[in-house]
Amino acid sequence: MTEIVQMPDFHLIDHKGYKIITNIHSPEELEKLEEGEVYDDDLFIVTYPKSGTIWMQQIMTLIDAKGNATQSKLTSDHFPWVELPEFAKNFASRPSPRLYCSHLPWYLLPKGLRQKKGKIIYVSRNPKDVLVSYYHFHIFANMLETPKDFEDFLDKFIEGRVNGGSWFDHIRGWYSHKDEFNILFLTYEELIKDLKTAIVKITRFWGKDLDDQQVNNVVYHSTFRNMKTNPKANYESIPSSMLDQEKGSFMRKGVIGDWKNVLTVAQNERFDQLFKEKMSDCPLKFVWNM
Ligand code: A3P
Repeated sequence: MTEIVQMPDFHLIDHKGYKIITNIHSPEELEKLEEGEVYDDDLFIVTYPKSGTIWMQQIMTLIDAKGNATQSKLTSDHFPWVELPEFAKNFASRPSPRLYCSHLPWYLLPKGLRQKKGKIIYVSRNPKDVLVSYYHFHIFANMLETPKDFEDFLDKFIEGRVNGGSWFDHIRGWYSHKDEFNILFLTYEELIKDLKTAIVKITRFWGKDLDDQQVNNVVYHSTFRNMKTNPKANYESIPSSMLDQEKGSFMRKGVIGDWKNVLTVAQNERFDQLFKEKMSDCPLKFVWNM
């Protein structure tokens, strides 16, 4: 007899100007999370979706283990998503040091972070590569609406009608409030170009002490090739009710500039124009070339 699996109903809803997903996020728990007490040794990886979150989860897990890759836990258990109700609910009782990752905007994480308590590592990525990666993710993520085509998804991304809201608002928000937080900004591109230097930077910011061999081990085990085959890091254990791994993978290509294979000349011009309008007064120096 075939088992009938009832799929939960997922759709986007607005929570204080940010887009969350019903049956995955809870506005009530998010509301309480804002008031959660923050400790100095709390650490959050923060990203807009598809900017290298699971890569950072693996890097940080390895730094924590001084490069020893015999990790027993999934990286997503080591750095769980604080916006998921089960973790938001237990924020106060989780033992320190509390390590998390999040896609939340600056104003939805616990307010205590704004007194420079705890640490945040914010990773950004060329929005055109984010757009392409997110488009593919929507094709295999069952909790997200399957786009009609790329143009349809481009419209939604530009208007911020996706989980995570507007890429532009996310990065502007975090950057314009950077002086309130103890925050390190990194880019996906600098990780690709010189992973070791980025890892040393992260290690210092976190206050960890690793020797050169240990750093080399972190680098080795966080390369795309090694992560792709590591079941503790590649997210292949996510249930098929959430991700249809037959249709795609978190570890897709892992390169800079895949957007050039996807955006038409007109779509690219539209994106550049919009980027100019929205970001020209943002002082953040973007390492990628728009
Ligand atoms: P692509 O879809 O462009 O391949 P997130 O974790 O924020 O959802 O981001 C996923 C993106 O990060 C995917 O991009 C994935 O391939 C890339 N990624 C994950 N681990 C990586 C690694 N070790 N090296 C390079 N890219 C990585």
